[in-house]
Amino acid sequence: MDIPLIAVDAGRHGTKVKNARGMFCFPSSVSKAIEGHREHLENDLEVRYNGKDYFVGELAQREGYPQRLMTESKVHDQTLLEVLVAVFRSEVMDRCRVMTGLPINLYTDERERAGLKRLLEGEHEVTVNGVHRRFTIEKVGLALECASSYFAAPESGTVRIVDPGARTTNYATFKDGIYIGKESGTIPLGWDSVRGADPDLMAGQIASEIGKSWSPSNRVKIIGGKAEELEEPLKRIGFGFAYAAERPLYANVEGFYEVGRSLTHA
Ligand SMILES: Nc1ncnc2c1ncn2[C@@H]1O[C@H](COP(=O)(O)OP(=O)(O)OP(=O)(O)O)[C@@H](O)[C@H]1O
Ligand SMILES: [Mg+2]
Repeated sequence: MDIPLIAVDAGRHGTKVKNARGMFCFPSSVSKAIEGHREHLENDLEVRYNGKDYFVGELAQREGYPQRLMTESKVHDQTLLEVLVAVFRSEVMDRCRVMTGLPINLYTDERERAGLKRLLEGEHEVTVNGVHRRFTIEKVGLALECASSYFAAPESGTVRIVDPGARTTNYATFKDGIYIGKESGTIPLGWDSVRGADPDLMAGQIASEIGKSWSPSNRVKIIGGKAEELEEPLKRIGFGFAYAAERPLYANVEGFYEVGRSLTHA
């Protein structure tokens, strides 16, 4: 039998997960666990890993003091905990493969790639809400954020995709199924880094960057959690054929899953 594949898009704002049975997400928030009486809610994630206790997701926001991870690198304990929770909640009991993403500007960074694999690959022992499991992440595959979403909904001709995230905005181009690196990249701006998270302001910043190589007559697919809010502003600024994807929040992780599947069958 194939080893289960778990795709994880550990974004700055939310961790999106896809496995063979479906998709789910939780806030990318991790805090040291705080002792004391509290309410126990359905989505609470109390995690014990490597001798330390953490609150993850909504519980971290409600009862903990989560730190915002605003560094560029994803090689960080927070990423590890998010991936472990994703694997655990996917009911992996033994072993799995993980497919995750890197922003376009970091994708070829060997230190980042090797660091992320080293962080995630191997045997892990984790306890979530009192349930202890030991599993092995046998292999970590890395996909391009934004660009990989293409593989969940491939199209012929010129395809432009823009992914405004919490901290950065990735943009990608495919021509007849071929990724075009020189018309793709990362803009260091996102909904949580632009003052007021103003959609018109975001659209202006994005348009001035993508406008260098993209034509206003191109269809532009918008993905990410706030895709809908960018549709009208991008149209007004000149990209008249901009449109929000159908499940924008999950577009990346659906793409990661497809890339992971094609690697298995290669
Ligand atoms: N369900 C939702 N409803 C409304 N807004 C949302 C929702 N989910 C996310 N957002 C908003 O959309 C923004 C982008 O979310 P998204 O999950 O795409 O970012 P991310 O992938 O975590 O970030 P990055 O790609 O920069 O690491 C967030 O800053 C958040 O404010
Ligand atoms: Mg993202």
